[in-house]
Amino acid sequence: MLEKQLEYLRSVTDFTPQIALVLGSGLGSLAEEINAVASVDFSDIPDFPKATAPTHRGRFVFGYVGSAKVAVMQGRIHLYEGYSPQQAVMPVRLLRKTGAEILFLTNASGGINRRLSIGDLMLIEDHISSFVPSPLIGENDNSVGPRFPDMSEVYGKRLKKIIIETALENGIPLKKGTYIQLAGPAFETRAEIKMCSILGADAVGMSTAIEAQTGRQCGFEVCGISCVTNLACGLLDKPITAQEVTETADKTAPLFKKLVIKSIERMANG
Ligand code: HPA
Repeated sequence: MLEKQLEYLRSVTDFTPQIALVLGSGLGSLAEEINAVASVDFSDIPDFPKATAPTHRGRFVFGYVGSAKVAVMQGRIHLYEGYSPQQAVMPVRLLRKTGAEILFLTNASGGINRRLSIGDLMLIEDHISSFVPSPLIGENDNSVGPRFPDMSEVYGKRLKKIIIETALENGIPLKKGTYIQLAGPAFETRAEIKMCSILGADAVGMSTAIEAQTGRQCGFEVCGISCVTNLACGLLDKPITAQEVTETADKTAPLFKKLVIKSIERMANG
């Protein structure tokens, strides 16, 4: 299936990206800052899932950020859309097949740790994916990656250092923490957030960890930044809405974009 999908992509463009960038909620407009050479809608790729989440456009844009060659996923596939974990990570596997070596993940999350405030950017240092099924379950293609991949350093030291240095140099405040992926689509209960907190999670979301896990397995160097769009359930005495997630993501987008773009430029040159 992956070969057929790659063949279709290649019929549109032979562009070989260095960096694959996944744009989360509210960050889709970053794709407009790319000097694009080609774009491919998910819906045109054979046997490929379609993006149905709000603000997730569902296409790959290939092109340049400065001198960096990037493939941008404008919109991602979530488990809550009804897709299997294997379908949800198809874009990650396909991007690896195009030759990309770095997987840069972004998302929106709810802050669990009280050190986090609404609008904060958080470097993802590690993740907990144990509450969602693994996309690596099933027959394994050993030519893609090992059956039992190591996950001791999912988010690479080198890339983390670049992001931290870029944030410092540009005066962009950056927190750090552990991201936990839950399936959604319901926001969590107070008890669930208490559980996540006890387990050591700093921020919660409905994506990313399975993409990072797949990315490592197929040989990507992986990094991730999360935008804390709201405080998780129970931290404030009010309900969580998708609207506040989108509103904060939109408000934070300029700073988020700056950090991502400047980090990418450094990654490509280092
Ligand atoms: N929970 C889960 N996913 C999210 C949240 C949240 O509070 N905010 C943004 N994505």
